[in-house]
Amino acid sequence: MKNLTADELRDMYLKFFESKGHAIIPGASVIPENDPTVLFTTAGMHPLVPYLMGQMPHPAGTRLTDVQKCVRTGDIDEVGDSAHLTFFEMLGNWSLNDYFKREAISWSYEFLTEKLGFKPEQLNVTVFRGEGKEGEEGYIPADEEAVEIWKSLGLPDERIFRLPREDNWWGPAGTTGPCGPDTEMFIDTGKEKCGAECRPGCHCGKYIEIWNDVFMQYNKNEEGKFVPLGRHNVDTGMGVERTICMMSGAPTVYDTEIFAPIMAKIEELSAESQLSGEERLRAKRIVADHMRTATFILCDPKGGVKPGNIGANYVLRRLIRRAVRYARQLGIGPGFTVKLAEVICEKYRHVYPELGANLEQCRLDLEAEENRFNATLDKGEAMYRKVAEQLKLHGQSQISGKTAFKLYDTFGFPLEMTVEMATKDGLSVDKEGFDEANRKHQELSRTTSAGSFKAGLQDNSEVVTRMHTATHLLHAALHKVLGPTANQKGSNITAERLRFDFTWPEKMTDGQIKETEKLVNDWISQGIEVTKKTTTVEEAKNEGAMALFGSKYGDQVSLYSIGDVSKEICCGPHVSNTKELGSFKIVKEQSSSAGVRRIKAVIGNMG
Ligand code: ALA
Repeated sequence: MKNLTADELRDMYLKFFESKGHAIIPGASVIPENDPTVLFTTAGMHPLVPYLMGQMPHPAGTRLTDVQKCVRTGDIDEVGDSAHLTFFEMLGNWSLNDYFKREAISWSYEFLTEKLGFKPEQLNVTVFRGEGKEGEEGYIPADEEAVEIWKSLGLPDERIFRLPREDNWWGPAGTTGPCGPDTEMFIDTGKEKCGAECRPGCHCGKYIEIWNDVFMQYNKNEEGKFVPLGRHNVDTGMGVERTICMMSGAPTVYDTEIFAPIMAKIEELSAESQLSGEERLRAKRIVADHMRTATFILCDPKGGVKPGNIGANYVLRRLIRRAVRYARQLGIGPGFTVKLAEVICEKYRHVYPELGANLEQCRLDLEAEENRFNATLDKGEAMYRKVAEQLKLHGQSQISGKTAFKLYDTFGFPLEMTVEMATKDGLSVDKEGFDEANRKHQELSRTTSAGSFKAGLQDNSEVVTRMHTATHLLHAALHKVLGPTANQKGSNITAERLRFDFTWPEKMTDGQIKETEKLVNDWISQGIEVTKKTTTVEEAKNEGAMALFGSKYGDQVSLYSIGDVSKEICCGPHVSNTKELGSFKIVKEQSSSAGVRRIKAVIGNMG
């Protein structure tokens, strides 16, 4: 095994695939350009979806290779162990309906063994074992072809593992799109097996996955079905950090040259603290990981993601705030986020020039967010003190779930902080009660993106569906407030807001905006049922349904009714009850073009 730096690995990978006829293309922004179904770019294939789908030819050809900045927050709770990261660099090579399994697997093997110098005995692979029964719906055959290719390269059967879809199927990146069976490559670290069941994919750390070859032959459609794409694409992804870790023999990714300056800075800034041993190590890793991710997001050339309460902004806020919390535990004082961002930018700016160009803005954003959160924590601590004093006064020793939730909900004081302080004071916290209060609160007003932080993906179907129903209510409210000439001209929904254009000659007054908002909120709180029926355009119009002027409809259309409030011809989907929207707020009313106004609005409890 060679001991390469990340710079050398990137270079070697791109040159290798260039020698196999691939065009080296630039990686994309970490904030997806045209895909509201995900918050961040999670894989190298993501910016290539239209080409994988065959919607258009890629200008650089049918064989591509690049390095892609990726953000994945689905495993946020695992960060701090030896291998999970919320940001990583992915090396990838693609066949857009060009070569297929044999070339992809053979080149992976060649690169791993001949270029990187991994011993063939270290390599273990997994392949898709198939699903369902031949002839029945949903049947997908086992990937015996991949097995045969691995065998032909010399891999013995005992190091080829046939696993189900949850292990050996990749994609789509969002809710729909190209996907397929994959074969994943793991390096055996030589550690003891953790048990008889230990195999690649086990989390004990014996086997580390470094590369994945996906055979993108399927499309997951809106009904959730896998339909053959009619194309044989290859999509591969090799993790830079993990590969460097395996090559250098470092015990964790944080012990590689990639993280060395960041970890050193954290060590320099930290002081004596309540943490020691494993806990201290974990806190340092979390700070390093989260600050690296936050810095890449803040410096992204596409820009625009600031710490906030919804969507990608919320993810960024959570990353920074989590870093602040762990830094406090490490005895690291204020101002550390900027100091770490400087080290991170220094490490990467020669590869990603945006980390040089946008450092100044990144500094300002980090400073503001760190200060804001420290102020929140100070205020929360003061509130907590009052609670604790009261309890002691009454001879009680447990903080109720409701109180802990109030500290969190009203003062932004995280539960972990309450628990931490309570423990020091010899008090306990009713965590189950907290969860219960939280659940009740969410039922009342589901936040748009708290769930998506964990999932890493905006739950597009849910948010977009709710926004979609909100659009119908807004349209109906405008008719009531402004009259029947306020007609929809366009609509655009992202995970964060809805945008609605309508014909109206002048700026809406504040009173009209308030009235519109109030109407929509009233309808939401009335909990009106949304129903759908299939009918003809003619009949729908007879019933007084709104249809978009100039739109072409088929013979049969879906008619969505929201009680007596709204009737619109529309493809859906919609929520089943207006209650699911939580609340509605117009955030902007502006001109769109001559005679057309534009409203931007958000839904739910968005803080
Ligand atoms: N898209 C594949 C992955 O992310 C290569 O693993």
